[in-house]
Amino acid sequence: MHLEGRHLLNSTDFSIEELFSLIHLAQEIAENPTDYSQTCRGKVMASLFYEPSTRTRLSFDAAMKRLGGSVIGFSDPDISSHSKGESIEDTIRTVECYSDIIVMRHPEPFKPHKLSTLISNPLVNAGDGPNQHPTQTLADLFTIFMYKKKLSNLKIGFCGDLKYGRTVHSLIKAMDRYEDNSFVCISPDNLKLPEEISKNLASQLIESNQLEESMKDLDVLYMTRTQKERFPSVQEYERCKGSYILSHEKLRFAKEDVIIMHPLPRVDEIHESVDRDKRAVYFQQAKAGMYMRMALILSFLGIQ
Ligand code: NCD
Repeated sequence: MHLEGRHLLNSTDFSIEELFSLIHLAQEIAENPTDYSQTCRGKVMASLFYEPSTRTRLSFDAAMKRLGGSVIGFSDPDISSHSKGESIEDTIRTVECYSDIIVMRHPEPFKPHKLSTLISNPLVNAGDGPNQHPTQTLADLFTIFMYKKKLSNLKIGFCGDLKYGRTVHSLIKAMDRYEDNSFVCISPDNLKLPEEISKNLASQLIESNQLEESMKDLDVLYMTRTQKERFPSVQEYERCKGSYILSHEKLRFAKEDVIIMHPLPRVDEIHESVDRDKRAVYFQQAKAGMYMRMALILSFLGIQ
């Protein structure tokens, strides 16, 4: 698949057909990794992270290196010329001169969207504040497809901080494009899915603040952490942290074939006792993210 000349800024930027091609390519790479190990030789990926990250940054790094390419960039803007007062616009124009693809995470919503107009190499949004996290969505779609063999006709529960959780914002919009999906949004009242998202969804959506009773007919349960860093005050965070904790005991309410997903990092919302349950797939999801990012890099660079 060829995505040259494009950027990835929102989880709905690619067509349904393009998403299926990416999923199939990710699957093919996962099954035959050595066939792809030199495909990006001589290519450079720039990775610019203005916010903390473990999985997104390292899985992109690992993806590019497993394709034989190399990686430049920073995980802390204070070690770049940002600390000398350079504008991010100048940084991105400079970095474009050195690289073939740029991956960026920034705390300000829509910052990658604005910067993408300045460059012609692909820019990948690796998270823009509380707004979107499209590459996590690609990893999530691949994971759901691996276990459910479909992306339609599924009942998906989203639990936790649905107000600030960008992975939920991106995934719910993406899943809304498939037939007959329905959503159960489980959150405290002050952390509900923003209305500008819920009002634009075509699928059925139920809101609840009860995890146990919402769990019984879900095909997918997507747990999230409370996004401490996005709260206006520590006091407000303290009031809603720990609202939902999934334990092994509570899983007795769930279907035998539910999959428990989490973009990670987890804080306390999934008890470690759940990790041993075959329905818990969050570490497989993290691995799927690497293969999906390999597929994405190859497609953006027009290599196959
Ligand atoms: C998420 C993120 O950064 O939005 N993590 C990730 O990229 N896998 C989720 C989170 O931080 O809670």
